[in-house]
Amino acid sequence: MDILGWNIPLWLILILLVVIIWYWHATKYFGVFKKYGIPGPRPIPGFGTFIQTMMHPKGVFGLDLDLKKRYKANVIGDPAMIFFDPEAVKQITVKDFNSFTDRRSTGVTEYPVNQMITVLKGDEWRNVRHQVSPTFSGKKLRRMTALINRCAHHLTSNLEEVAKSGDVFECKEYAGAFTMDVIASTCFNIDVNSKNDRNNIFVRMTKRLFNFSIFNPKLIIFLCFPFIVPYLSKLGFSVFDPKCIHFFVDVFDKAVKYRQEHPDESPNDFLNMMLKASESHSDHEADSDEDALPETKHNNQCLRSLSTGEIIGQSLIFFFAGYETTANAVTLTIYNLAVNPDTQEKAYQEIMDIIPEGEDPGYDDLKKLKYLEMCLLETIRMYPPGPQFDRECVADTEVKGIKVPKGMFVIVPVHALNNDPEVWPNPEQFDPERFTEEAKKSRHPFQYIPFGIGPRVCIGQRLAIIEAKVALVHVLRSFKVLRCDKTQVPIKLMKIRAEAVNGVWLKLEKRE
Ligand code: HEM
Repeated sequence: MDILGWNIPLWLILILLVVIIWYWHATKYFGVFKKYGIPGPRPIPGFGTFIQTMMHPKGVFGLDLDLKKRYKANVIGDPAMIFFDPEAVKQITVKDFNSFTDRRSTGVTEYPVNQMITVLKGDEWRNVRHQVSPTFSGKKLRRMTALINRCAHHLTSNLEEVAKSGDVFECKEYAGAFTMDVIASTCFNIDVNSKNDRNNIFVRMTKRLFNFSIFNPKLIIFLCFPFIVPYLSKLGFSVFDPKCIHFFVDVFDKAVKYRQEHPDESPNDFLNMMLKASESHSDHEADSDEDALPETKHNNQCLRSLSTGEIIGQSLIFFFAGYETTANAVTLTIYNLAVNPDTQEKAYQEIMDIIPEGEDPGYDDLKKLKYLEMCLLETIRMYPPGPQFDRECVADTEVKGIKVPKGMFVIVPVHALNNDPEVWPNPEQFDPERFTEEAKKSRHPFQYIPFGIGPRVCIGQRLAIIEAKVALVHVLRSFKVLRCDKTQVPIKLMKIRAEAVNGVWLKLEKRE
């Protein structure tokens, strides 16, 4: 092409155009921070603070707090807006939820990942959330407690062998097998002992799905350049391992068809509950649920039954969201109790006082285990499995005097809120007493939000707490968990995941 007398090849012009569009897209909000005097590090176009996160010795578990300290501000531009003030978080997640309904777009268009509740937006999200929320009600979870206990028996019998051998063991391997068993049985009524049954195709595919490095180029593109992902999807690019996705879609698809053809065989699992919801959206079993999840406000006209694609998408996200998060919470609670033997003894005594000997803990017993819950809550304060979550602003909104323009991404820094030394003295110290009723009342309720908050709060929050408590009851009453030479204290976490870099190595002593 001839431009001002220069003969420039067309391909070069196309590349330049792509670079200019990308640069414009990646920097379009930088000026907003200057205009409103919002401080923050100089972001690298496209990468945001990804590189700073990777360079920071503690990754996301240190950078946000350092930024707050460095800029002495309650909001930072990085190039998303990070709000450290719990009142601002309340406004974003609850009061002005309609302006911040959606998560940041991932650009994923491939089926059925694009049907998962985590990526759905606006009315599509409202509809799915409204249909799926009742499947996690207290009444339904009560029925599932027996299934969870069955999985905990697999866990203790696997640990029994470790205790007998006297060897050290890597705790996440066992906790991960437990949470995988729980998902397989609560979602699909499959009884699997993942730790023993390593060749089970379910186990192999789930492990493969989670076995990614953050230096994986696909993940970097997904995190830093989401706006090009839809175009790459059209060219067959897939962020997830396509073999795993095909495997799960096939399994879920067959399960849905089988259940539709055999309505009499209806186990009490999530899949069946979603199928019921898909038959009639108004047919949710009435549930007097004392601690129900927040209701989503919806436009009745947008309410419709779940499609098969949506059911498959939700089955997939229950796997993604439920496996790692809860496995890390259980592992790190056991770690904290192993390195704090007095606290472990107190939790053990509580279990012995409340749960009748030789019996499985029931739903109501679990609620009474207040001290055990304090240990769990304190662990996920220190090491939140979701260290940040985000929202996309869909309408210009003023948050605590700061104008947030439409299209801006907003980050809620869960870890920084849970570890701010001005609110939590000695935040690196494990202290379950921070969660007594009095201590909780003395803090802003939005200062501790490891499961998110508001209408988009973690849908599996109560399942996760029940699951973790069941595992802890079975483990602690059967064994004394001890630190060993291989236990790393203090623990070093991965840069963006609440998972120990070198694993959590411990020892067991059988209790009489
Ligand atoms: C310790 C365990 C867990 C932690 C710390 C955790 C944390 C979170 C967080 C921080 C969010 C984002 C909330 C927001 O944006 O406001 C979330 C969302 C979600 N979680 Fe969890 N989670 C856990 C376990 C589970 C389990 C067991 C399941 C399901 C079976 C689950 C399913 C989901 C789903 C589906 C969403 C998206 C909700 C929506 O977009 O409407 N999570 N979780």
